[in-house]
Amino acid sequence: MDYDKQAVKDFWEDASCGERLYLDGRNRQDFLNQSDIRYRLEPYILDFAEFDKHGGKKVLEIDVGLGADHQKFAEAGAELYGVDLTQRALGNTQARFVCMDLATRLSNVDAEKLPFIDNAFDLVYSWGVLHVTPDTPAAIDEVYRVLKPGGEARIMIYHTYSMVGYMLWVRYALMRLQPWKTLGDIYFNYLESRGTKAYTIEEARELFQKFKNPEFHIYLTHGDLLTSAAGQRHEGVLLDLARTIWPRRIIRKYFKNHGLFLTIRATK
Ligand SMILES: C[S@@+](CC[C@H](N)C(=O)[O-])C[C@H]1O[C@@H](n2cnc3c(N)ncnc32)[C@H](O)[C@@H]1O
Repeated sequence: MDYDKQAVKDFWEDASCGERLYLDGRNRQDFLNQSDIRYRLEPYILDFAEFDKHGGKKVLEIDVGLGADHQKFAEAGAELYGVDLTQRALGNTQARFVCMDLATRLSNVDAEKLPFIDNAFDLVYSWGVLHVTPDTPAAIDEVYRVLKPGGEARIMIYHTYSMVGYMLWVRYALMRLQPWKTLGDIYFNYLESRGTKAYTIEEARELFQKFKNPEFHIYLTHGDLLTSAAGQRHEGVLLDLARTIWPRRIIRKYFKNHGLFLTIRATK
């Protein structure tokens, strides 16, 4: 598929993930409020990341975004490094760390070409990033390369069979009388930055085949359940209507493996 990393960068330079919806300014209280909303909407991040376990460990976060998770690693006492493709995210995270009087080492870096030596980190953490970059396998190879032997990757990428994907398919394929469009087409063109991908567990297993003991988990998100604003690209009457009739209890009970977030924990 043909697409352009510059377009990905431009999309996220315009606003970091969640910035328009959840960050009112760059004061200490604004950052604390954004963190509160993040962990209220996505409490599973805390279980998945286990920030407190990484005190004293050398940790790399790929794509710091608004810096909430990065702050948690810093508060846990990690020896912390953060990278991002956009100056916007680095500026937001830098401002947060100044407000909180915390330290990290941030750099403007492409996840497909990390400027770190081999076997450098105890943990590489990345939430919602590696499916956005054009060459996802190259970025995962980089995660592997920079991890110490025995080091751990904790990564979230998007899952193909999700309620978010089905909703977008109804909106952009069925309602446009183009039912032959695949979920892959839909994520690529309509979810976030152009070129966004999603993976099945089998495909993720393939991506992480070099790693030992990979564990996969699917999370139903606030997007799948329509319990929040729907992201930077999506609003309108249809979405408001869907929100009022959305069968959340049925989805929680029968479609719990149809969430957008696919997490992977694996060791080198
Ligand atoms: C959905 S946001 C996730 C942000 C953050 N981790 C969070 O949880 O809010 C996706 C991010 O991926 C970043 N990104 C895309 N391609 C990248 C690359 N090649 N290297 C580093 N970051 C990249 C974009 O800058 C964007 O901020």
